[in-house]
Amino acid sequence: MSDAEEIARRKGEHLRLAAEADVETRTPAGWDDVNLVHDALPEIDAADVDLRTTFLGHRLSLPLVISGMTGGHGRALAVNELLARVAERHGIAMGVGSQRAAIRDPMLAPTYSVVRDAAPSAFVIANLGISQLVKQDREMALGARDIAQIIAMVKADALAVHLNYLEECVQPEGQTRARGSLEAIRALARRVRVPLIAKETGAGITRDVALRLRRAGVKAIDVGGVGGTSFAAVEALRAAAQSDAARMSLGNRFRDWGVPTAVAVAGVAAVGLPVIATGGVRSGLDAAKALALGATVVGVGRPLLQAALRGESDVERWIGDFALELRTATFLTGRRRVADLSRATVVITGESLAWLDQLGYRKTKPARKRNR
Ligand SMILES: Cc1cc2nc3c(=O)[nH]c(=O)nc-3n(C[C@H](O)[C@H](O)[C@H](O)COP(=O)(O)O)c2cc1C
Repeated sequence: MSDAEEIARRKGEHLRLAAEADVETRTPAGWDDVNLVHDALPEIDAADVDLRTTFLGHRLSLPLVISGMTGGHGRALAVNELLARVAERHGIAMGVGSQRAAIRDPMLAPTYSVVRDAAPSAFVIANLGISQLVKQDREMALGARDIAQIIAMVKADALAVHLNYLEECVQPEGQTRARGSLEAIRALARRVRVPLIAKETGAGITRDVALRLRRAGVKAIDVGGVGGTSFAAVEALRAAAQSDAARMSLGNRFRDWGVPTAVAVAGVAAVGLPVIATGGVRSGLDAAKALALGATVVGVGRPLLQAALRGESDVERWIGDFALELRTATFLTGRRRVADLSRATVVITGESLAWLDQLGYRKTKPARKRNR
């Protein structure tokens, strides 16, 4: 099997396992610890609540990003096309999955470029992995021409670099050479003409890491915290299928490793960059809480993938419910715009409070004026 075929097979397995298997973390994202304070006398009409926001200079009709998930294999084309159609219709942003497969095999490019074809005006985020920026044992780092190709493939409005060392540790074929990765991000930020987003994929980003990324030229942070899809769990299942007992055990052991999403949002919001809250966002109410903690938009992966595999009307229903819940929460906190939720009072309890206290995040208020 060629490298490209191997990547395509892996991506197909990720999609199937994420859609069908029990792969969510046992540790919650923290939304139950975040309480928005009810306003019994909101001086607005619920119907007038403005759900629009601005992200990296682009107007979105809803503060929602369809998280980068797929591309590079058979089922990806239909999933990406369907989700892109919905993104275009609803004025929301959308990411694609890692585009490394299409650099290896250009025949796979349409499984990604279909997103731009179906969503000509949406905010589209290109994607590559941090491991592809650093020379690995059997693979060179991507060059300037590869990066330009990745961006051009989807006519991207931004480029996300995913930081997924937890997954790489568990993956039987994982790439864990990480030395020089921050320098590689700095060089990339200097080179690309679109804003660079740093994106975790389920283990979360702390304030300290976000500060280092900002200094390196990153323009937005997707915190990708614990609470939703666990790639350690996904890789444990793949290892089990390959009878790799050691990797399976490692994946199960690290299933909940990382910083819960609510904590990561609260920590990173103070850094002053736009924040995408991803990892276990499952409703418009979760989103309202994330925005109150300082996120600019939220990212949703697995639920939209599952809905897409059921059909377009299920994706429509999911987004309709999400928007109604977000509108209701904004109204009941007495805010007219979702973008004003960052000024809402929140009462934080339980384990999330312990995290915030011990990481020293509690004393700092989220930065009010972010570069949206
Ligand atoms: C099937 C699948 C494939 C994914 N592939 C990628 C990827 O290639 N690049 C990336 O940055 N994130 C990838 N992700 C991670 C998502 O963007 C997101 O961070 C993660 O699923 C957490 O969100 P959730 O809890 O809403 O699913 C993938 C997620 C899923 C479910």
